[in-house]
Amino acid sequence: MTSLFEEIGADPGEQVPVRRVSISVNGRRRTADIEPRLLLAHLLRQGLKLTGTHTGCDTTNCGACTVLFDGKPVKSCTMLAVQADGHEVTTVEGLGGSAGGLHPLQEGFKDEHGLQCGFCTPGMMLAAKALLDENPDPTEDEVRWALSGNLCRCTGYQNIVKAVLWAADRQRANGGAG
Ligand code: FES
Ligand code: FES
Repeated sequence: MTSLFEEIGADPGEQVPVRRVSISVNGRRRTADIEPRLLLAHLLRQGLKLTGTHTGCDTTNCGACTVLFDGKPVKSCTMLAVQADGHEVTTVEGLGGSAGGLHPLQEGFKDEHGLQCGFCTPGMMLAAKALLDENPDPTEDEVRWALSGNLCRCTGYQNIVKAVLWAADRQRANGGAG
């Protein structure tokens, strides 16, 4: 087990309270000394350099910062990092396939042209993963509902929905393997 000790966002000349947290991120235990006000999105991006988690609005609107928190999608700009202490977080960097290749969702977004600029894509894929983990055979409406908290300014959503349905088909063909 490796540890990361960093003071993130703390002014070294200022006496600020810090709290030690230990979070499993993409299957690896990470430990950090952080200010209680630090957002989970900022811990991931600035502290752990997992910049696949994007921040588009910081106000819970866009979903670009979506990660999985104990398997459920959360907007990491709306959670304090201390709330993740003792929990499991999955970012897009942890999404790769079991054999080191692409996850079916990543393949689906590629094959079905589910992205243009790609800014929304990590959050879209993690929201979709949470859906497919619970419901391996979703309808188009169920996919649209699951992604309704994630905004895309480029694609018009059609190909994103197709990408998720493509991934669902592929996962079922693979016997459920991600
Ligand atoms: S950055 Fe979190 S919802 Fe937009
Ligand atoms: S692909 Fe550009 S915001 Fe979605």
